[in-house]
Amino acid sequence: MDAIECLKSRRSIRQFKNEPVREEDLETLLECARLAPSGHNRQPWEFFVTRNRDKLQRLSEVCTYGKFLNRAYCCVVVTGNPTTTDRIVEDCSAATENMLLAAHALGYGGCWIAGWNTSYEKDVLDIMGIEHPLRLVSLAGLGVPEQQKHGTKRVRDDCVHFVG
Ligand SMILES: Cc1cc2nc3c(=O)[nH]c(=O)nc-3n(C[C@H](O)[C@H](O)[C@H](O)COP(=O)(O)O)c2cc1C
Repeated sequence: MDAIECLKSRRSIRQFKNEPVREEDLETLLECARLAPSGHNRQPWEFFVTRNRDKLQRLSEVCTYGKFLNRAYCCVVVTGNPTTTDRIVEDCSAATENMLLAAHALGYGGCWIAGWNTSYEKDVLDIMGIEHPLRLVSLAGLGVPEQQKHGTKRVRDDCVHFVG
């Protein structure tokens, strides 16, 4: 799949088959995450990956809109170090999207789960054993897609504005 096709066809996947993500594919999508652009190239991200069923269950219980995490093969918790930059939200978001696009290109599915400024940030950090000063920016549940759901998108003329 070429990059444009990948960007156009990616959709959030919240239901997964009981099948693994191959180890080398997981490596590839983490590689794509860490190669994301970042302000001043600070690369403030730290990625924490779990396939542990107990941790996935606990994460699914604390993340308000992440109940599907207990069905995912794994979860990548994306954190940023705010002592290195004041741009961790943008930087870690770019990394998250890179990862989700790479997952889609490799035939997997995933969904972003909000992390920044959430009431469950501390719970997620505790479950994962992540320490200060790292801040939670996002989580991504990943796996082999079971469901292909297409939400509606705003049409181009509604959101693209050419300014002469
Ligand atoms: C910043 C951000 C936070 C999100 N948080 C959640 C979430 O907590 N739970 C969830 O199920 N989806 C979450 N999503 C996924 C969106 O619901 C999804 O991207 C949107 O509905 C558009 O659908 P699509 O990804 O299939 O294009 C989030 C997406 C973004 C970018």
